[in-house]
Amino acid sequence: MRLSFTTISIFLSLIRAPGVVSQTGLAPKQFLNLPLGEVKPAGWLHDQLMVQTNGLAGHEHDFYDYVAETDWTGGSSYYSNLEEAGSYWFNGMVPNGVLANDATIQSQTQYFLDYVLDHQDSTGWLGPEVNTTKPRYLWGRYPFFFGAIQMVEANSSLAGRVVPALHTFVKLANTMLHNNGEGLEDWTNTRWEDFVMTLQWCLYDFYPDGNEELLLDTMQLLKSYGDPWEEVFKEEYFPKTAVENLTNPFPFLTWHGVNMAEGLKALPATYRFTHNQSDLDAASLGWDLLFQYHGRPSGIFAADEYLAGLEAARGTELCLVVETMFSGSYLYQVIGDPKFADRVERVAYNALPATLTGDMWSRQYLQQQNQIAAKNMNPDPFPTDGSYSNVFGLEPNYPCCTVNHPQGYPKFISNAFVTSPDKTSLVHVYLGPFSTQTTLADGNQVTVTVDTLYPFSDTLTTTIEAAGAFTYRVRIPSWVANGTISVNGAQAEAVSPSNGLHSVSVAAGTTTIVLNLPAEITLEPRPHGSVAVHRGPLHYAFDIARTQKVLAQNAQEARAVDLEFDATVPWQYALDTSSLRFQYSPPASGVLPSPVYDSGLPPMSISATACQIDWSVAGDTFASPPPTSPECTGPTTNITLWPFGATKLRIGEFPTVNLTA
Ligand SMILES: *[C@@H]1O[C@H](CO)[C@@H](O)[C@H](O)[C@H]1NC(C)=O
Ligand SMILES: *[C@@H]1O[C@H](CO)[C@@H](O)[C@H](O)[C@H]1NC(C)=O
Ligand SMILES: *[C@@H]1O[C@H](CO)[C@@H](O)[C@H](O)[C@H]1NC(C)=O
Ligand SMILES: *[C@@H]1O[C@H](CO)[C@@H](O)[C@H](O)[C@H]1NC(C)=O
Ligand SMILES: *[C@@H]1O[C@H](CO)[C@@H](O)[C@H](O)[C@H]1NC(C)=O
Ligand SMILES: *[C@@H]1O[C@H](CO)[C@@H](O)[C@H](O)[C@H]1NC(C)=O
Repeated sequence: MRLSFTTISIFLSLIRAPGVVSQTGLAPKQFLNLPLGEVKPAGWLHDQLMVQTNGLAGHEHDFYDYVAETDWTGGSSYYSNLEEAGSYWFNGMVPNGVLANDATIQSQTQYFLDYVLDHQDSTGWLGPEVNTTKPRYLWGRYPFFFGAIQMVEANSSLAGRVVPALHTFVKLANTMLHNNGEGLEDWTNTRWEDFVMTLQWCLYDFYPDGNEELLLDTMQLLKSYGDPWEEVFKEEYFPKTAVENLTNPFPFLTWHGVNMAEGLKALPATYRFTHNQSDLDAASLGWDLLFQYHGRPSGIFAADEYLAGLEAARGTELCLVVETMFSGSYLYQVIGDPKFADRVERVAYNALPATLTGDMWSRQYLQQQNQIAAKNMNPDPFPTDGSYSNVFGLEPNYPCCTVNHPQGYPKFISNAFVTSPDKTSLVHVYLGPFSTQTTLADGNQVTVTVDTLYPFSDTLTTTIEAAGAFTYRVRIPSWVANGTISVNGAQAEAVSPSNGLHSVSVAAGTTTIVLNLPAEITLEPRPHGSVAVHRGPLHYAFDIARTQKVLAQNAQEARAVDLEFDATVPWQYALDTSSLRFQYSPPASGVLPSPVYDSGLPPMSISATACQIDWSVAGDTFASPPPTSPECTGPTTNITLWPFGATKLRIGEFPTVNLTA
């Protein structure tokens, strides 16, 4: 009998489907993350973490109302404590404190943990609703749980205190959910996967304590009440334009940018208890649709509250930048597709630094791909968000990203290395300067240090010290052209990645690996015939010289300022794309400036021949779409494109002209 393709598919689905019946427990991930603290930043990335620690993130506890409160009994603010602000802050500052080895931050997070656990009530509830008549919604605790898990990872002797408190809370939550979905509201319904992941990571994988059935039941309840991400991410329902004029067939908060960034984790988390390949396929398709219809050359997608399409003046919220990075790391660990890792790295090195001042004291709510001013905008280009959203400040438009953005770099660092589930191999996922020390299978103690300026260099030198032999894998990004690897001084050979990873059999003792990963300059087509310029991990933009005006200064902390930026030079250029030339001047000292993400500081740039054109502003504060087929209105000139993350005002999507005539 000749099987048709359809017959084979049905047959395969029959083989997979019974897995649900025969396989109990959770499906394994492709890769395991290392506990917090085992991967550390080095070189310029360590400096970047210190800039964050010495900036707004590291000082919020000293002055910022929403997290400076030392107890919640006042209950003054909706955002405080475990309702949003404290929970987000804790989730980011736990890894920040550990990775920066900062005793002050660590004592703040320890105090926060102790305070929450000490005030758990007899029903098991955690949070400021204890001893009040406030309604008890589950979501606000989820980022707190992520922080608590990380504390246990960093110091397993805390498990004895955290794990029983979580099990008690889960018993209560399970009862509430069985009681007609008590504890749920619209936001909790979109973010259910964060609780599912807590149940899986911490409790089921490591500390089940005999509660497996209750944990699985709770996961299923959360999913059955929660928003249907497998439907939201289907091609037929997925919005292909900015959504302000569309009707969402599902609860409207599913098209909210941060919910979607967090919801990217829902299907891989679901897969672990359904064992259903269709959940992974839907997660992968959803990721592709999101970036196809709302993606940005900086790696991220646009949602100025709700999904915002492809136009370069629309906004991307900072919270969704860091949540997408975290979700992408999880997707990579569950599914193993290198596309997730490629994009997380691109976001970390482009979209994230672009939306913070170099010193990380001020942050935007919304960043724009083409951003010709950062100021109170009139008219406002964002249909839902306020006119102050692209100001760099303490809490422009909304406070959430002030407390949520600090998770970005620390979690990127923590997830830069993973192991195979059997721990026989170690995988270097995110390229950059790191060190890691871990124990692989059979007690094999391994130390790895990666010396590089990457993404501000193409070369990485990795030194491995191992007690025994193991397989080392390193991600070769999809943009690498003619990459080579040399092991222990041998002649360099072409890299030969399989599923994005190049493998090296490492012997006991010391191994040195030199990777050279060059890339071509590439062009990405954008709307209206415009182009975006890339080379390797970095996206390049015209950096518009700016003036700076202080709009506000915090009364308690003078460094927390709101800044307006205005252009001081023309930005209306069209590029001749045949003229692009890469320029690299590595620092003679071998050390990059601190901070590196500001105007003129990175050692890489791209020169371009260009001319001025007519390109109107919309209102007086944002650029109209790039004109299609423009004419030069001025002489041919040379302009320099800089790494996008170092630009605070910029053009990242250009019209093109042919100037070679
Ligand atoms: C709730 O209030 C009672 C009465 O004031 C107090 O004894 C108890 O410690 C409080 N419980 C918590 C968990 O704060
Ligand atoms: C780990 O936690 C325990 C229990 O709280 C504490 O006594 C110990 O000092 C912590 N260790 C480190 C290295 O922080
Ligand atoms: C939504 O409708 C308004 C009013 O008709 C229109 O100006 C706008 O361009 C539409 N937006 C999208 C993304 O279609
Ligand atoms: C597996 O996925 C398919 C397709 O989405 C669905 O019809 C089926 O109900 C799923 N099975 C389980 C147990 O989730
Ligand atoms: C890769 O090799 C080809 C063939 O030698 C060459 O034309 C191209 O410029 C190289 N690209 C890079 C980025 O080194
Ligand atoms: C632009 O730069 C190129 C290469 O450095 C140079 O040959 C050319 O003269 C420059 N053109 C202008 C208009 O400055």
